[in-house]
Amino acid sequence: MIKMLHLTFVLLAFASFIGRVLLPMMRPDLVKHKAFKIAPHVIDTLLLLSGITLVVQGSWLSGNYGWIIAKIIALLIYIGLGVLVMRSEGQTRWLAFAGAIACFIYIGIVAVSKNPFFFL
Ligand code: HEM
Repeated sequence: MIKMLHLTFVLLAFASFIGRVLLPMMRPDLVKHKAFKIAPHVIDTLLLLSGITLVVQGSWLSGNYGWIIAKIIALLIYIGLGVLVMRSEGQTRWLAFAGAIACFIYIGIVAVSKNPFFFL
């Protein structure tokens, strides 16, 4: 049940991140809505809370927890790059955007494979 919620928030967080970057360019009128500013923070918080609940529920920290640490580190990098995307312009903004998407995909693959070094 919590895992289903977690996966739902993963999809919503991904969609809201892309939306926050693309909508201001495509539909600037929508961006003025209060919901547009608040929703991403609510979704990101629920994603984090559902992840923490899964860690506790599955006692993941008492066994092989390297992948959880990798997920959290990649999540921090994703947040940092996300802030850079919102605050910068031009090439820096798009490089940060690509990096953030790569982090998100990495987090997803690590979650499924339970291996931070799945690419080796
Ligand atoms: C961008 C953020 C995140 C993404 C893309 C993501 C992605 C995923 C995915 C795809 C799964 C399903 C894995 C499977 O069914 O095999 C999953 C499960 C899980 N995630 Fe996340 N997650 C994120 C954030 C977090 C955070 C912040 C935590 C912990 C603090 C966390 C902890 C977990 C745990 C413990 C599971 C359950 C693993 C299992 O039962 O097999 N996740 N996550």
